[in-house]
Amino acid sequence: MIKFLDLHKLNKPFKDQFLAKTTAFLDNGWYILGNEVKQFETSFASFSKAKHCIGVGNGLDALVLILKAHIQLGNIQKGDEVIVPANTYIASVLAILEADLTPVFVEPSFETYNIDPNLIEDIITSKTKAILVVHLYGQLAEMDKINAICESHNILIIEDAAQAHGLTFKGNHTRAFSFYPGKNLGALGDGGAITTSDANLAEVLFSLRNYGSTKKYHNDYVGVNSRLDELQAAYLNIKLPHLNAENESRKKAAKRYLSEIKNHKIHLPIWNNFNDHIFHLFVIRTESRDTLQEYLYKNGIETVIHYPIPPHKQKALLEFNHLSLPITEKIHQEVLSLPMSSVLTDEEIKHIIATLNSY
Ligand SMILES: Cc1ncc(COP(=O)(O)O)c(C=O)c1O
Repeated sequence: MIKFLDLHKLNKPFKDQFLAKTTAFLDNGWYILGNEVKQFETSFASFSKAKHCIGVGNGLDALVLILKAHIQLGNIQKGDEVIVPANTYIASVLAILEADLTPVFVEPSFETYNIDPNLIEDIITSKTKAILVVHLYGQLAEMDKINAICESHNILIIEDAAQAHGLTFKGNHTRAFSFYPGKNLGALGDGGAITTSDANLAEVLFSLRNYGSTKKYHNDYVGVNSRLDELQAAYLNIKLPHLNAENESRKKAAKRYLSEIKNHKIHLPIWNNFNDHIFHLFVIRTESRDTLQEYLYKNGIETVIHYPIPPHKQKALLEFNHLSLPITEKIHQEVLSLPMSSVLTDEEIKHIIATLNSY
């Protein structure tokens, strides 16, 4: 069986380094917010060309904390509207709700699956204070257009980059990352980070993630406990230097899928620019998705659906269930993610392509 994502194989080359770091961690005896977190924050800020990086507990918290920090600084008020793509992982929406803000859903472009910039201007109201742009599947959203619209309406841009580590971003915005194990830069447990070049925001964020405190037992904000774990930071320090090479391997696999899968029943993703996609996921579309998934499984290929139910149709988000967002709903019915990682072999890719071509 070709796994959708073989995490064991992916992390195996780092095993000796992980063990050495774990031993050093035990010998050192400092478990929370130590040198590994500091080192990772410095390296990831520099990797991301941002002035600051704040390590947090996970990607969802990264999003929530960015919004809460903006509220704290008076840039957004509770109840304000935040534009969010309807076609996203539910975390993007949950973060807005958790910060007591109102999500306003915008349909995606059927070509990129990312928010359709042509639909943004129409839904802007006097309460629209921010947009949470998601680079879904690792593909850069149409930032030139989004940046121009937001600049003319004075709308804050926050980027959900949970699926977009190592992407060439456009603009100097605050971004949330997730280091969930399956991400392009994945830890061995939960982890997340925020990158920003806004010094005031960074100061509030360093405090918010740690009970609203930067000096022990002195609390300036109603914060939370969401710190990047020291051991996860140690593992991420080992893996970060390999991220660009791993992303290149993903692009190489994607190139083969794109040029060699030839089946009129299967719609391939569109990739216009070498810099605008790091292929966290390689997502195809087909009308009878479940039949194709079963066929692939029978032929030894594991696939995953990202995602089967859109956020606005989830039981948890009952208040939005009445919304009709047909493009998002169609995408959710048709998408299927092929195996994609830096450890897929040429033989595996060849088998996947041949199987899809004879479907
Ligand atoms: C688009 C998107 N946003 C946010 C998150 C939340 O990240 P985490 O699982 O680390 O909380 C994820 C990943 O799960 C995601 O894919």
